Amino acid sequence: MSAGARNSAPRAGFETPMPNPILLRRALILGAAAGLAAPAWLSPAIAQARTLRRTPGQTEGPFYPVDIPADNDADLLRNGQVRYAKGQAVWLEGTVLDLDGKPLTGATVEIWQCDVNGHYHHPGDGGKADPAFQGFGRTGVDRDGRYRFRTIRPVQYSSRTPHIHVKVKLDTAELLTTQLYVQGDPGNQRDFLWRRLNEADRAAITVPFGTAADGLKATFPIVVQA
Ligand SMILES: [Fe+2]
Repeated sequence: MSAGARNSAPRAGFETPMPNPILLRRALILGAAAGLAAPAWLSPAIAQARTLRRTPGQTEGPFYPVDIPADNDADLLRNGQVRYAKGQAVWLEGTVLDLDGKPLTGATVEIWQCDVNGHYHHPGDGGKADPAFQGFGRTGVDRDGRYRFRTIRPVQYSSRTPHIHVKVKLDTAELLTTQLYVQGDPGNQRDFLWRRLNEADRAAITVPFGTAADGLKATFPIVVQA
């Protein structure tokens, strides 16, 4: 065996180098044009390309409900029969997918957040939350993995930048607990939890809250390992 062959052979315990992405793409295009199946050496790269990046987790914080409230649907702007008209109304929507990009059928998404005055429905927050604001909601995903909530744009409280707490469950298993941030909010750079995220993780859980016909709209795509 020549020295070159020895050096290029995969060694146990070492990762095989990634193929050049330009050559990989060219080979795929040429193969597809010729009606050919991808060669065996490309298969691991294709599988890797289909693997989505997992949504990063964040701390649950101290204000997850002690008892799930009676009204826990996806409309946080109506608690029982009382409507909450404060703050900026938001449609928060997205999908829950697994690492292969498949909808996570059967998943439940929960969100909780403070009211416009910065108070949670939680004994640890002194029972000061506005009773008209539902504060917590949950919904199942549809067959395409989609979910949607009606809530408010989160606000700053104490030292925390605006955020919405998010949890994803599959039956009783908790697959993700994280926090969602508002892109461009000046408080993000001062927030101790947001600052410790790397660039990719910030991008994954910090989304635009853009204008919509009836308030704001934010889209939060979630990827979990099922
Ligand atoms: Fe919080």
